[in-house]
Amino acid sequence: MKPKVYVTRKIPKKGLALVCEACDAGVWEGEVPVPREVLLDKVRGVEGLLSLLTERIDTEVLDAAPQLKVISNYAVGFNNIDVDACTARGIPVGNTPDVLTDTTADFAFTLLMAAARRVVEAMDHVRAGKWKTWGPTTLLGQDIHDATLGIVGYGRIGKAMARRGRGFDMRVLFCDAYVTGDDADIGATKVDMDTLLAESDFVSIHVPLTEETHHLISSAELMKMKTSAVLINTARGSVVDPQALYEALRDGAIAAAGLDVTEPEPIAMDDPLLTLPNCIIAPHIASGSVATRDKMAEIAAKNLIAGLRGEPLPHCVNL
Ligand code: DGY
Repeated sequence: MKPKVYVTRKIPKKGLALVCEACDAGVWEGEVPVPREVLLDKVRGVEGLLSLLTERIDTEVLDAAPQLKVISNYAVGFNNIDVDACTARGIPVGNTPDVLTDTTADFAFTLLMAAARRVVEAMDHVRAGKWKTWGPTTLLGQDIHDATLGIVGYGRIGKAMARRGRGFDMRVLFCDAYVTGDDADIGATKVDMDTLLAESDFVSIHVPLTEETHHLISSAELMKMKTSAVLINTARGSVVDPQALYEALRDGAIAAAGLDVTEPEPIAMDDPLLTLPNCIIAPHIASGSVATRDKMAEIAAKNLIAGLRGEPLPHCVNL
């Protein structure tokens, strides 16, 4: 008999096919996250759970699924999962690192360029019929080449962002308590947070969301940035205090922001950040290329199946 599993959203075909071949899979078919009460009901009796970052997997879910052998998260980030509780119950938690590194860094750099050169405002300008002539001062932006890029969190994606910055002849600074010394290979200099904030023209966030990084960027940090600086966040929304960011953008404490992630998600339609022309917001799509989402699905399926078989997960964040 195939092991019973629950998949909380339709993931790309290749991964879903692997799951369905190896398991008796229930799949939430909706476009929006599975309602909490449905999730709690559906996990009863399952041995495997393939979850998304939109589901909070906590002790309530674990209690509802006493037979659970493995949780496979379709994301590299796993702040939606109470990993300590899983570890205490001997449940391995899988994630999908590496395959999304370059795709996510590509998008972080896309936001950086779009915010620096005011691409969204420019499109709005054209659509509104305001393009009357070539203008010497129309929609002036900031240079990317030769500017200073500050990277907060120098893990896989932070480094990939650094490489892109170097490709654009940027000076690259980073801060990361877990990295010792400069990165001579890429040509990036380790500095403390205050130096990074004060000297960077672009600050890009690449830390995971933890208790320590919650609202890591708030009023005090934004005030230390240059008034011409641009903030990019493709990590997790809650790393940045949204009210502080709104005030900084509104009052000109910084020049612009490019966000792929917000607090909360989705952003409320009456969120004041949506009223600002100098704030670009995308709906958490940084890893969203066809190829990368396929690879993530395949890894998530393989993590799930390995856990069901009692084998080590190809990518495990605990145990
Ligand atoms: C992740 O994987 O953590 C991203 O936020 C979504 O791909």
